[in-house]
Amino acid sequence: MSEQKVTFADVKTSYRRWAGVYDRVFGAVLQDGRNKLLRQVAALQPKSILEIGVGTGLLLPHYPPNARVVGVDVSDEMLAIARERIKKHNLTNTSVQLSDGESLPFKDAEFECVVLPYVISVTPDPKALINEAMRLCSPTGHVIIANHFSGSKTWAFLEKVAEPIAAKIGFHSSFSYDEHIGKSSLNVTKVEAANLLGLSKVVTAKVR
Ligand SMILES: C[S@@+](CC[C@H](N)C(=O)[O-])C[C@H]1O[C@@H](n2cnc3c(N)ncnc32)[C@H](O)[C@@H]1O
Repeated sequence: MSEQKVTFADVKTSYRRWAGVYDRVFGAVLQDGRNKLLRQVAALQPKSILEIGVGTGLLLPHYPPNARVVGVDVSDEMLAIARERIKKHNLTNTSVQLSDGESLPFKDAEFECVVLPYVISVTPDPKALINEAMRLCSPTGHVIIANHFSGSKTWAFLEKVAEPIAAKIGFHSSFSYDEHIGKSSLNVTKVEAANLLGLSKVVTAKVR
């Protein structure tokens, strides 16, 4: 079965549909990974944070209060909810904008921390997204990724079966750690298992 390509049209259509129910469907179920990622950020105390694929902004109220935080996403509908959250929590240091994480209008090394929570298996070109995160991260900073990665043989089989449907609802279901993290030039410093059955990982890396 050949892998179906995820397109930006798939991502936008899919998150237009998910936006209204996203927090109820994917809030609690993916929270363990978000909490582990947030603990890494808190330990590093970065002064500036970029979140690519910020979605409805579930992490935004939990970043260190003194940091400058920028979130980007390709879905207007997800961002509208993130903007409400920013207002509700009065996050004066936080802004979000509609931008493609694979090609962003920021300077090289502009952020001390670039976080990618559950976006690398959603974006059309995961390698381009990781390269852009590395470009925007300062040489002394960190890129932190939370994501589902392909698991045991049984899971891998089920993921392969789900692949054609997964592309249509906007993500790559079989997603290899070795292919996407191992072969990148990220210098991984910590990997933690997260979420149900440890099917996700939280990966902390330096860019040098
Ligand atoms: C699974 S949601 C994750 C949202 C949030 N980070 C969380 O933890 O719940 C993936 C988000 O990534 C966004 N996305 C996908 N590809 C993107 C890209 N290339 N640039 C920016 N956002 C993207 C989607 O629109 C969606 O809002």
